[in-house]
Amino acid sequence: MIGLRKIGIIGAMPEEINAVIKLLTNRSEETIGKRTYYSGFIDGIATVVVFSRWGKVAAATTVTTLIQQYGITELIFTGVAGAINPLLNIGDVVLGDRLIQHDMDARPLMEQYEIPLLGKIFFETDKKQSEEIAISITEMLESKNMIPIFTKEALDNFNIKAPKLYGGDIASGDQFFSDNNQKENLHSKLPSVLCVEMEGAAAAQVCFEYGIPFRIVRIISDVANENSHLDFPLFIKDIASKYTFEIIRRMYSVFSGQRL
Ligand code: ADE
Repeated sequence: MIGLRKIGIIGAMPEEINAVIKLLTNRSEETIGKRTYYSGFIDGIATVVVFSRWGKVAAATTVTTLIQQYGITELIFTGVAGAINPLLNIGDVVLGDRLIQHDMDARPLMEQYEIPLLGKIFFETDKKQSEEIAISITEMLESKNMIPIFTKEALDNFNIKAPKLYGGDIASGDQFFSDNNQKENLHSKLPSVLCVEMEGAAAAQVCFEYGIPFRIVRIISDVANENSHLDFPLFIKDIASKYTFEIIRRMYSVFSGQRL
């Protein structure tokens, strides 16, 4: 299995990718269409790591290149997201069950959110693969494991006390949510959605069309309200890249059978 498997890892932030590429051995790099693709091995598993840039088009083209040029057999998308469900707090992690494009609207030709010609509203992630990594993420979020990774000051700044892992729906669209009305509107129209970001459902569509299993992991960086634009950059700088590094490191220990 290991010889055939090739994992694509996309990060929606350059900081995350700069952290993850440190895990690659035998590393080589290639630039195609304004993205640098880093190839190598993590725990003996062939892996390609890339920063997608932002938005649905950017994500879709990056996934297409990973599939067409690099022959990946599965995709992991990591990044941050704004919380839509009021239960979620900054520092929580969402493992996507289903992805929806909240800005897709071809009414009256078809139902709101329906992807033209696919007749689908939601793209499902691979349940078995997501379950496989859920335990390692939950373990990372335990305080005994968080303390050595983050400074207490960084965690206190964001009031991160007992972060949790949630499984549920994620909405994507070409909009940064920074207003409570925008957030409440999405929450009332799509109550199953836990968080919002700008790439996941586009990556999901490409994976669905090519028949590639995918997982989407999102760390809550803000609560999609008037403070989002302040919380988001600070969270990226102090917290997100360390979270992503740790999540990926722990995922690979599960993949390669050497639990940490
Ligand atoms: N990614 C992180 N925070 C976000 C927000 N508030 N809106 C859209 N994408 C995000």
